[in-house]
Amino acid sequence: FIADKGNYRHFMAKEIHEQPEVVGRTLAHYVNCTAGRVELPIDLPFDFKDLKRISISACGTAYLAGLISKYWFERLARIPVEIDVASEFRYREAPMEPGELALFVSQSGETADTLASLRYASAEGQHVLSVVNVPTSTMARESDVIASTLAGVEVGVASTKAFTCQLTVLLALAIAAGRARGTLSAEDEKTIVDALIGVPGLMSEAIKREHQIEILAREVSKAKDVLYLGRGTSYPLALEGALKLKEISYIHAEGYAAGELKHGPIALIDEAMPVIVIAPHDSVFEKTVSNMQEVAARGGRIILITDEKGALEAGLDTMATIVMPMAHPIVAPIVHAVPIQLLAYHTAVFMGKDVDQPRNLAKSVTVE
Ligand code: G6P
Repeated sequence: FIADKGNYRHFMAKEIHEQPEVVGRTLAHYVNCTAGRVELPIDLPFDFKDLKRISISACGTAYLAGLISKYWFERLARIPVEIDVASEFRYREAPMEPGELALFVSQSGETADTLASLRYASAEGQHVLSVVNVPTSTMARESDVIASTLAGVEVGVASTKAFTCQLTVLLALAIAAGRARGTLSAEDEKTIVDALIGVPGLMSEAIKREHQIEILAREVSKAKDVLYLGRGTSYPLALEGALKLKEISYIHAEGYAAGELKHGPIALIDEAMPVIVIAPHDSVFEKTVSNMQEVAARGGRIILITDEKGALEAGLDTMATIVMPMAHPIVAPIVHAVPIQLLAYHTAVFMGKDVDQPRNLAKSVTVE
């Protein structure tokens, strides 16, 4: 296999831009677009309605996709979800009741800690379901069932398209779980599936903000530290934004739940540290806005990533506002992933960093 950058300077740029296409391909695999319902292309060796718990483990960006799905499984299917980074899960000897579901998320399907966690869960009598991008991988072979992401080969060390495809598959699974457990009506399922079908188009819209983000990246590149804030599903996205930025630009960045601001990070706020707030207009929007006011009151410079309604209602001065198209709150994280990827990418490119091969990092960590 010889990877081709096409007309892009870096694989990462190509992979960011490919997302509308690969997310579209992935979702078409899991939903019946005409009926507006999820149709899983796999036979599950368990029934969601019998589950008392789902345990998720993964590493890096895949872990953050899992963390977003926790909100979905709990909200749509009312199943308690436990989630850990695989390096912790594999050694903490978690008690597991046989017959529950252990879910693993991995682009490569070869990450050593995730694989070890999978083997532990399997020995504990769990049903093992893996969301993987490489169907011939070790994890795929050792799972009871796999749900493939159809992202295609991802070359950039910093994961982008694999992440949004993981989210797509995880949401389809959460919807299927909600239906099986009777917690999601056919009507609500159709609303969410229709929203999911609209995601590739919204991602294309999001990519159109690239020029604005590129200019903003010059400001971000001057920072020594950057704080990312979000609530609900925007909280894992804040973690992902910080992870992307530090991986490729080497700027120190931290993601925080916006509600935790008062419990520490507020002490760091000054005009030198950009605060990136991810806040689509959802049920926790007002709460996040009040956290933004606390940042603004202390002279913090805010970059707000929101949607059209959020931009109208935020009502405060920001250094910049990146406006996403409106999306159903359930699918919003898939759309809002795009600007955080672009911001990390352009910051690193502006700083002259090796975006596709960042120092000290590997695409797949197959040793502990
Ligand atoms: C490495 C990569 C990340 C990836 C993580 C998990 O750290 O640099 O991009 O998210 O491994 O990899 P996996 O293949 O299990 O998704």
